[in-house]
Amino acid sequence: MCGIVGYIGSRSAAQICLEGLHRLEYRGYDSAGIAVVRDGELDVRKVVGKLLNMDASLAETPLPGTIGIGHTRWATHGKPSLDNSHPHVSMNGRIAVVHNGIIENYGELREQLKAEGYEFKSQTDTEVMAHLTQKYYEGTPGAPGDLRAAVVRAVQDLRGAFAFGIICADNPDQLVAVRRFSPLVVGLGEGENYIASDMGAIRKETDKVYVIDDDEVALITREGVELTDLDGNPLQREAFVIPWPADAAEKGGHKKFMHKEIHEQPDAMRACLAGRLSDPDQPLVLEGMNLTPDEIRGLHKVVFTACGTAYHAGLVGRFLMEYLAKIPAECDLAAELRARNPVVLDDTLCVPISQSGETADTLVALRDMKDKGSKCVSVLNVVDSSIARESDGVVYIQAGPEIGVASTKAFSLQVMTMTLMAIHFAEVRGTADPALLRELKAALLEMPRHAEELLKREDDVLAVAQKFYQLDDSLFLGRGVNLPSAMEGALKLKEISYIHAEGYSAGEMKHGPIALVCPELFTVAVAVHGDVYEKMIGNIQEIKARSGPVIGLIDDGDSLMGEQCDAAIWVPQVPEMVSPLTTAIPLQLLAYHMADLRGEDIDQPRNLAKTVTVE
Ligand code: G6P
Repeated sequence: MCGIVGYIGSRSAAQICLEGLHRLEYRGYDSAGIAVVRDGELDVRKVVGKLLNMDASLAETPLPGTIGIGHTRWATHGKPSLDNSHPHVSMNGRIAVVHNGIIENYGELREQLKAEGYEFKSQTDTEVMAHLTQKYYEGTPGAPGDLRAAVVRAVQDLRGAFAFGIICADNPDQLVAVRRFSPLVVGLGEGENYIASDMGAIRKETDKVYVIDDDEVALITREGVELTDLDGNPLQREAFVIPWPADAAEKGGHKKFMHKEIHEQPDAMRACLAGRLSDPDQPLVLEGMNLTPDEIRGLHKVVFTACGTAYHAGLVGRFLMEYLAKIPAECDLAAELRARNPVVLDDTLCVPISQSGETADTLVALRDMKDKGSKCVSVLNVVDSSIARESDGVVYIQAGPEIGVASTKAFSLQVMTMTLMAIHFAEVRGTADPALLRELKAALLEMPRHAEELLKREDDVLAVAQKFYQLDDSLFLGRGVNLPSAMEGALKLKEISYIHAEGYSAGEMKHGPIALVCPELFTVAVAVHGDVYEKMIGNIQEIKARSGPVIGLIDDGDSLMGEQCDAAIWVPQVPEMVSPLTTAIPLQLLAYHMADLRGEDIDQPRNLAKTVTVE
């Protein structure tokens, strides 16, 4: 799950690749590399560690050339090192390859190539592609010296997932790109063109892209782009216009992307509601699902599936789908859904949830559910992503680009979209009290204002963070619709601050985690009003009785709960079923400030990547 950028034109390819790679660093940041063709030779530069090292290297010794490919790596095969960084070069030093994905049969290909005399310098799976391309470039029957033909022939030997960008020292006028299961776009300019694993990488240069599909190959020159399938049949493609402005992925005065994205939530919520809900007395409109009212009425089960933060949003979806729409619902981690080979009955709807739309486990779960006969309506952020293209319908959360590795605004909008979906299904099926649905719709319309209010209280959250950030262990407790809030709060904290954090049902606390309670472990209790409120008071008292410090997430004015806790984070009171939206923001801020106080690299936490395109 790496990042790829390529350029062909008349400007410095290395600089354009470098800028694009900076926008892709969230995909991985173990090492980076750029290759250009100049004066009939390949010139390759690699650095280990973050891209800042490449900035320094290119500032000291530029890499001239007007065609090039760049890569930022998240190690899968072989540790981060210069040898393992991309671009990988063929044995004759003439062909350079950048790759995102995993070549599953690389072991056997490596042995074959070694037997044919090819020598390997790295432990990566990618290097086989460099050598295979050389082999077929030299020897493709009828087409020696044809880079595209060699690439097409080489990928026929591969199993697994890949997006490749490939250049050859013999031909400074051609860049070849091909994909199977890993995302790839070709950016369109005037007298110059681009490739990237993510449109965000090249948005500053162009807003027009071709989204490349599986087993499609692009031959890119300065003048244009030829798309074909692997049999050489030409393909026609409409250019996709990227729907967000060039500066949407800039920090805009914030210290970190995560901070900026937390603060974008009020506007993002407005965008998510726009066109769907404007009057609590009117039914919701949710376009894109591609489900008829009869299909919604006939549903017997809804299966949510996702990874990481999106999974927590799915847990909220499961809760609301049963509570409001009265449809039996499940929520599975995508990696586990396939593993348990689920029984899929008729009239089952699968709802994959993904910010990127590229997460490999979620994509595989979607395919599996489709194979088993389930209709799949995905909840996504990135338009025209792989999951979008394979779904029967898509509801977009409208969050705009999210760069910080720790997902924040996407989580809130996934939860908001889950809520809209459950209300919509309840309206169509007539399964909930109209007064309750009206109350929830009115509360959703108020949500952007509540979010603004919560952001104004950031200093109060900072003060709480200052009190506890030096402790190394924490427990996040919640119940009911706010159990996922606790799980997500714990995930946020652990991924960026490295404080050990467990998200648990408060009801389960007695069955294990209570053994950990002591003055050195702080507990964050999501204790807003609702059906589970009194039980939460009981749990907090059990922790206090064992000298554990408690931070309460508490409704404004709830002095009873306030007195139980060592520190309080106040939130505006809203109906319980939409409270995961108000509790999310302070928990994000708490994680952010604790990590910041500990001096951690918030936008690029160790070992993580934002888009995980390997299973
Ligand atoms: C990675 C990211 C998480 C994200 C998860 C699922 O682990 O670090 O922030 O929640 O992938 O990503 P998706 O793009 O499918 O929502």
